[in-house]
Amino acid sequence: MASVSRKGGFYTRYTEAQSLGAIRGGHGDLVVISLPVSLPLQGRVALVTGAAKRLGRAVALRLAEEGADLVVHYRSSQGEAQDVVKKIEKLGRRASAIAADLSSVAEIKRLFDEAGKRFGRLDILVNSAANFLPANMVSTTEEIWDSALDTNLRAPFFCAQAAAPWLRRTQGVIINFADSSGLLGWPGYIPHSVSKAGVIMLTKVLAKALAPEVRVNAIVPGTITMEGDPQEWEADFVKLAPLRRTGKPNDIADAVSYLIRAEFMTGHVLVLDGGRSLGPTAVEFR
Ligand SMILES: NC(=O)c1ccc[n+]([C@@H]2O[C@H](COP(=O)([O-])OP(=O)(O)OC[C@H]3O[C@@H](n4cnc5c(N)ncnc54)[C@H](OP(=O)(O)O)[C@@H]3O)[C@@H](O)[C@H]2O)c1
Repeated sequence: MASVSRKGGFYTRYTEAQSLGAIRGGHGDLVVISLPVSLPLQGRVALVTGAAKRLGRAVALRLAEEGADLVVHYRSSQGEAQDVVKKIEKLGRRASAIAADLSSVAEIKRLFDEAGKRFGRLDILVNSAANFLPANMVSTTEEIWDSALDTNLRAPFFCAQAAAPWLRRTQGVIINFADSSGLLGWPGYIPHSVSKAGVIMLTKVLAKALAPEVRVNAIVPGTITMEGDPQEWEADFVKLAPLRRTGKPNDIADAVSYLIRAEFMTGHVLVLDGGRSLGPTAVEFR
């Protein structure tokens, strides 16, 4: 039997799927054989918030490709969420779409109760849902402030609180989504920047509060361009990032996948921004 299990690790408890391998036969011929190879997340259940579209969708599909069953959370994008569920089911995994407005703590509790009833376990929570509200020193209102903080910071905390009993049982992981504004501060997005800076601290304090059973890490994406985004987002970012490109959803899915596997990492903030946060690139002594 071929096995890729790692002792004592997150990747040990899965069942086997078939894949093809090849060996040299007695006369040097290439003989194709069938080897049992495991999908790393088989038997695991992941809940991704805001999974109907964009980055949440890319992450949900990646985790399903790696073998996980999925709770596809959405708020208003029901059609898109059902489409994600169908795609995941085509991969042979289980998936269920559940709606909840995460600005309400009661809705968050209902989401996790419902997920628990449908799947009976939870191994991975990805807090991706967020809003992105422009608001500067003058235009910031009480309503914008509350909306940014409630959705982007309060919700990831209460999702973690609701998920914690499940995750402790499975030695699970939480991955939070911050962004560059939480490191750099954007004057045109003051409440947003504060909410994302809060996500970075939330990650560190949750890592301590939930250790040793649950690992908690965050990613800080730079500009990740997707269909429909304003073209100037890409042009502006490329000027500032040493790698001279924006990120793609796969860059984010790769990072989430890595953080799920990184068994000695907790409270870490992984920056994926093509070097943007290193500072100005236009004028440098080389
Ligand atoms: N895209 C980027 O370049 C970028 C860069 C840095 C960081 N990030 C972070 O990465 C994450 C994903 O980014 P994205 O661009 O894919 O996000 P997005 O499209 O702006 O939002 C993702 C989803 O969040 C859900 N959502 C918003 N408010 C909600 C609420 N009150 N309750 C429940 N769901 C709510 C929406 O679900 P429905 O559509 O179902 O309503 C939406 O589809 C976010 O945390 C974002 O801050 C993104």
